[in-house]
Amino acid sequence: MKIKCQAGFFLAVLLLATSSVFAQLNIVPLPQKMVEGGSSFLIKPQTKISYAKGLKQQAELLVAALSPATGYDFVLVESDRPVSGIALSTGDAGSANKESYKLNVNKDLISIKGKTSAGVFYGIQTLLQMLPPEVYSKERQKGLKWEIKGVAITDAPLYPWRGMMLDVARYFFSKEYVLRFIDMMAMYKMNALHFHLTDDSGWRIEIKKYPKLTSVGGFSGVGPDRKGGYYTQEDLKDIVAYATARNVDIIAELELPAHAQAAVVAYPYLCCTGDQYEVPTQHSISKEILCAGKESTYEFIDDIIKEIVAIFPSKYLHIGGDEAVYTRWKACPACQKKKTELGLKTEEQLRLHFNRRVQKIAGKYGKTIVGWDEIIEDGLEDKAVGMIWHEPKKAFKASEAGHYSVMSLTGYLYFDVAESAIPGEIKAAGWLPPISLEKVYKLNPMLEGLDEKYRPQILGASATMWSDQFIHGTILQEIPILNENRSEKYLEYLAFPRMSALAEVLWTPLARQNWNSFENRMRSQYTRYDAAGIGYRMPLPKLISNEKAANGYVVKLENVVDGAEIRFTTDGTPPNVYSPVYTEPVRVKELSDFYAVTVLNRSQFSLPFYFPGKADKFKKYGDLVAEWNPQNVQGKDFGILEMKSSGKINGNGSYALHFWYTSGDSRLDIQSVEVFKNGVKVAEDTHDGFSGSDASNNKYSFKIDNYETGAVFTIKAKVRGDENDSTNGVVMIKKI
Ligand code: ACM
Ligand code: ZN
Repeated sequence: MKIKCQAGFFLAVLLLATSSVFAQLNIVPLPQKMVEGGSSFLIKPQTKISYAKGLKQQAELLVAALSPATGYDFVLVESDRPVSGIALSTGDAGSANKESYKLNVNKDLISIKGKTSAGVFYGIQTLLQMLPPEVYSKERQKGLKWEIKGVAITDAPLYPWRGMMLDVARYFFSKEYVLRFIDMMAMYKMNALHFHLTDDSGWRIEIKKYPKLTSVGGFSGVGPDRKGGYYTQEDLKDIVAYATARNVDIIAELELPAHAQAAVVAYPYLCCTGDQYEVPTQHSISKEILCAGKESTYEFIDDIIKEIVAIFPSKYLHIGGDEAVYTRWKACPACQKKKTELGLKTEEQLRLHFNRRVQKIAGKYGKTIVGWDEIIEDGLEDKAVGMIWHEPKKAFKASEAGHYSVMSLTGYLYFDVAESAIPGEIKAAGWLPPISLEKVYKLNPMLEGLDEKYRPQILGASATMWSDQFIHGTILQEIPILNENRSEKYLEYLAFPRMSALAEVLWTPLARQNWNSFENRMRSQYTRYDAAGIGYRMPLPKLISNEKAANGYVVKLENVVDGAEIRFTTDGTPPNVYSPVYTEPVRVKELSDFYAVTVLNRSQFSLPFYFPGKADKFKKYGDLVAEWNPQNVQGKDFGILEMKSSGKINGNGSYALHFWYTSGDSRLDIQSVEVFKNGVKVAEDTHDGFSGSDASNNKYSFKIDNYETGAVFTIKAKVRGDENDSTNGVVMIKKI
């Protein structure tokens, strides 16, 4: 292609053309139907905002959204008929869906008509995405033209449950932050906040009848290490009102019978032993679960639910239900007596009995229960919603039994897992492989093989934002806590841009979902994140091609962030702000010498794009678990090569580790290999070995027989360069 020879010029023209054509219509999630044309509308200081009866709150939200950045005072008028300016109304929005809306823009009028106020709210969100990104700024933006292109949009969501889970139990996010999180969700038309309010390490909801739940169960640690907090019922009512105005339903989660140690610490009679425990300061799955044998447990649950339903108007109540270990039930006279009385054979059957009773209590208060996929067993009395996390087949079972499903699949939607394994990537939950933006975009909640007749029972999806592994867990505790909202920024780095991908998966008709289109529209969303103060992970430059040429390769990249540039190196060193700017395809001798980063405003960087490849020829020995090089290996003296192995160690069984030399003056001497689970040694292989051409000399094996989901695995090898530190290689791991 011609473009290649004169790439700089043509690319520039192409980009300019692209940005002027699509400048205002990079909407995420992509609307159902959009016809561009007609004249554009210019927002001015005198622009009138009219609203039909019942829409005052939406009109005020629109003013609150537009005023700070424009600096305009808008005139608000209640009117049944559209007045020139921006007019909000309800009525026929082209669909029976209560979240549907129509948005029409022409010279004199922007009309937003929702089926209900929810639709009006979404019309407003779309309108904001058609204005310059600076509209999200809280500061006045001078010299901008607030112009909106002529367009006719008819829009409605694909799924009714477009969710995010926020784990406030493991890490207490302030009320103000929860409101911000709701804003971030609403900006992308997400409408279900699954609020994980209770867990082993914290109880966050004030219950008047049981004050110790928060005064004791809301805090862990002592002295300067004391951490925690809780929301008063007034706080929660404020959060609910804020969310309701933005069409976000808050589904409170009360974790039962497991993940409940904070409650057990506050009221020890709730557990089987009655012993006094402490609120844990580190993540683990507690065996101190609620006693299923004592009637007092069910009375407690009834009291709690009674207070919860007075705060949260949602149709749903999440009752947890995951990861119960039965050690205590098995040894508890009350639990065993209950089992005998009911003729139950197993603890699983006792759990089903427990769930049924909780469902009955919730039903008495008018709530449909939601639970992790463990609750989906035959025999729940009424319809329930299974939140499908670790067993997709539970969605099939749930559907056949007449239940509903919301996908929270670990492989797509555990946003506490990092996006990549690139060196320098954020330290996040490591028990699962990375989940890329593209992977999230590929999710289809109608799982393959699920009969079409079950479609109405698939409500949507919800991404989890667990805070145990990356905030209070072992991973980040090595970093001292700084007063810089570090945890909140971590959360945003993990949530964005993946939440935007999930929003489109759940909103846009399947036929209009297209990865390339999404990637293109995302270019300008990063600027919107910046203007809105949302933290995010900067995407890497995109590889277009790396064709073989005389004396090497030609690498062609694409910048995927508006306003950013790509900087690169060809000598194997990491790029910085002084590295050359990429303007045209780059010729390199060795692909392994090429590195490139996205740089925005000379201060925001992506991780490096590079060609891994080194490990490819050792593929038959499994997955790459680590690389060694002069930076992490000393010559002559034995030192520790540490390898993050979560996700690579992914179940019980035997594993083989091979150390393969790739370049340098020295081979690697190896003395031992030790395997740690959550910092505790669980296996080792101690013998002398060395890297070289023979697999028998560089092999270390071990066996894992106490695997746990969520556990962090690390392998430490004692190694040295036999002559000096000039040694490079790869360590491969395979389950055998
Ligand atoms: C879960 O991750 N335990 C639902
Ligand atoms: Zn018991």
